[in-house]
Amino acid sequence: MTATAACAPGKVILFGEHAVVYGRPAIAVPVTHVQAKAVILASPAAPPGRVEVDAPGIGLKAALADLPREHPLRLAVEGAQEALQIRQLPAFRLRITSTIPIASGLGSGAAVSVAVARAVSAFLGQELPVEQISAIAYRVDQAHHGTPSGIDNTVIAYAQPIFFVRGQPFERLQVGAPFTLVIGDSGLRSPTVDAVAGVRLRWQADSAAYEAIFDQVGGLAREARRAMEAGQIDALGPLMIANHALLQRLEVSCPELDRLVQAALAAGAHGAKLSGAGRGGNMIALASPESAEAVAAAIRAAGAVNTIITRIE
Ligand code: PMV
Repeated sequence: MTATAACAPGKVILFGEHAVVYGRPAIAVPVTHVQAKAVILASPAAPPGRVEVDAPGIGLKAALADLPREHPLRLAVEGAQEALQIRQLPAFRLRITSTIPIASGLGSGAAVSVAVARAVSAFLGQELPVEQISAIAYRVDQAHHGTPSGIDNTVIAYAQPIFFVRGQPFERLQVGAPFTLVIGDSGLRSPTVDAVAGVRLRWQADSAAYEAIFDQVGGLAREARRAMEAGQIDALGPLMIANHALLQRLEVSCPELDRLVQAALAAGAHGAKLSGAGRGGNMIALASPESAEAVAAAIRAAGAVNTIITRIE
């Protein structure tokens, strides 16, 4: 029996996380070294509507109908079903695997939603357009962290570097010259919902100070866009360092991430910052192709459980 499969990449946010939730611009790029994959096999012997889900990475093996209504996998499958206006699904088995670490700022949740929505629609014989796939992943995120900016589902569904402002059509970012990023995983899992809720509480307590920081972050994202488009990669390093300092002021960094950032800079990275929601998860460093291995080794020596070297074109 043939299987229907779909994949989606991870992502990193280069500039603007958190401030993007408050309407400032941000830049994100896909990371294809890590992927979520959804595979569907028809179950001709099972009654129509019987959908079995198997996600070994999170120890889940269950009937879709037995999952809570708001379960991300259920929302992704039913989102595709609804978009295609199909009243009853045929019986099938859905297997999800992913090499994207969970709750670590690499977009694992959105990647799983995108892969599932794509696989389900392909299995049903009508591949949904990328805007609809992205919208399904957005709704899943919304059910889980309330106020997602939409940057994760967009960069992952379109799999391209993007300049993103919440509520506006995103812009594809033309990268004027390729550059190398080292991604370092602190090994600390930190749910996005908690970091985002923490920022909201502190913003409510002192909105003037937080709005001023968000404005500065947005300014860095705009400058970074100009530098990236002009191929002025050297200019990005100081902007990343400045963005990390602002993220520290938003209280979303932590000693472990700060240590990895410092180690990367000491090993010759031109810039480094946390990436994603923070309080754990991943950081990124801008390195020359020649220094990338040494930067990755320094990040590991400073406590990273994993490093990825990726080239952004
Ligand atoms: O931790 P991640 O990869 O889910 O990134 C979240 C990015 C935030 O700006 C903190 C939240 C958002 O919705 O944009």
